[in-house]
Amino acid sequence: MRPPSQPVELLVCTRCRRDGEQAGDVERPGAELFRGLSEAAIDGVDVTPVECLSNCSRGCTIALRGAGRWTYVYGGFEAGVDVGTICEGVRKYVDSTDGLVPWRERPEHFRKNCIARLPPLSVAMLGEG
Ligand code: FES
Repeated sequence: MRPPSQPVELLVCTRCRRDGEQAGDVERPGAELFRGLSEAAIDGVDVTPVECLSNCSRGCTIALRGAGRWTYVYGGFEAGVDVGTICEGVRKYVDSTDGLVPWRERPEHFRKNCIARLPPLSVAMLGEG
């Protein structure tokens, strides 16, 4: 279980659109997804809006990160459909010690739509200027 002093952060791109969608008055799917995940109030997770995770052409995009944890970027989400799937994957990430959830235990969408993963920052790297 994660120590309470080391929160997990769920970044949600609020600028993502559907394929072919033009700018307009409607709420962007990314903003809708951010709202849904904020309302889900996943225990131990800070939900943070961001403006682009550089995965713009592959559906709504999120990233998971935390101190001492691997960082993951996932895409291909639909705002009105995938909040439950994301919550399931995030809870498993929170329950891991280092962000590494066994592949078979991840939600199928996470297995098929991982855009990138980055290793944790080491203490030595944090001390370098
Ligand atoms: S606009 Fe969402 S990843 Fe770029």
